[in-house]
Amino acid sequence: MRQAGRFLPEYRKIREKHDIISICKNPELCAKVTTLPVEILGVDAAIMFADIMLPIEGMGVRFKIEDGIGPIIKQPISDTRSASSLETLDPESDVPFILEAIGLAKKMLDAKVPLIGFCGAPFTLASYLIEGRPTRDFIKVKTLMYRDPKTWHALMEKLSDSMAAYLLAQVKAGVELVQLFDSWVGCLSPQDYHNYVLPYSQRIFKRLEDTGVPRIHFGTGTANLLEEMKIAGGDVFGIDWRIPIDIAWERLGYDVAIQGNLDPATLLGTMELVKSASADILRRVAGREGHIFNLGHGMPPEASTENVAELVNFVHDATSNSAPNAA
Ligand code: CP3
Repeated sequence: MRQAGRFLPEYRKIREKHDIISICKNPELCAKVTTLPVEILGVDAAIMFADIMLPIEGMGVRFKIEDGIGPIIKQPISDTRSASSLETLDPESDVPFILEAIGLAKKMLDAKVPLIGFCGAPFTLASYLIEGRPTRDFIKVKTLMYRDPKTWHALMEKLSDSMAAYLLAQVKAGVELVQLFDSWVGCLSPQDYHNYVLPYSQRIFKRLEDTGVPRIHFGTGTANLLEEMKIAGGDVFGIDWRIPIDIAWERLGYDVAIQGNLDPATLLGTMELVKSASADILRRVAGREGHIFNLGHGMPPEASTENVAELVNFVHDATSNSAPNAA
């Protein structure tokens, strides 16, 4: 949840000299940024510092990440020709730097906390590839989905094969959990999710099954999609703040774990607010095994480092009677 992001002065200092993609391509620097939040905040896990768009470059797409906006694609995908020009990712040759950074980060973490690997889910990646930039209405994506289903399915197939290979390579390099980020999937109806997205996210989760590594399935605005997302797969579900966590968990079923739910904007308020919102989440999960305390989406750059560090301490104190790693 951008725990290594711009709200950390130490990260901002590194960013003065390097852009985000250059950090990802420098294994030493990438491993250092990955471990910063563990050192500074005392969080219970590290997530590889990368971006969901990073492997897309290896598939032959040129893009940049613009400050305050997000990924911008030079030549968005619009038809079968541009979709079929994408190459299937070969992680060892296309993104060796991230695999090397995983090894270095693991050494630095020294088995004290687990390391999470991740990738973008096919829908969220396709939405950037087709729209060319972040969007609110997803009109181009939906137009292609409805008007040209053949291209849509070919694109989703290529993305799911590539992302499955990417996650498997990350597991081989040493990550101990994997997270699939389907950040924008909440814009779909359950029926469209079922027809156009579910088979592809499912394919990725299935390919990871034999590794035994826990798989986290994350999205925002997914209150209408939880049952469908559960069918797609995952051992842990990441939810945002638009639905109470106990209601989401009841709907997902207690055979899966749950994380998320604190509105990151809470961190812009007083510490009193942060504590009362967090206490409410803890009250709702009532110590049930399988809860991971987390934000519902990315950390705002304006969040105060002190508030975030104090939140980590608050959750640790409030759950110190639970089983180890329960927080
Ligand atoms: O969470 C972490 O600390 C791990 C690193 C991470 C980043 N991006 C680094 C990053 C992860 C897991 C991501 C995933 C990502 N990237 C997603 C899925 C998760 C989510 O937030 O929904 C998406 C949609 C992207 C695409 C993207 N990259 C956006 C929308 C932005 C924000 C643009 C902005 O400036 O506001 C980025 C840039 C980005 N990726 C930052 C970080 C820390 C911002 C800081 C920077 O530019 O240095």
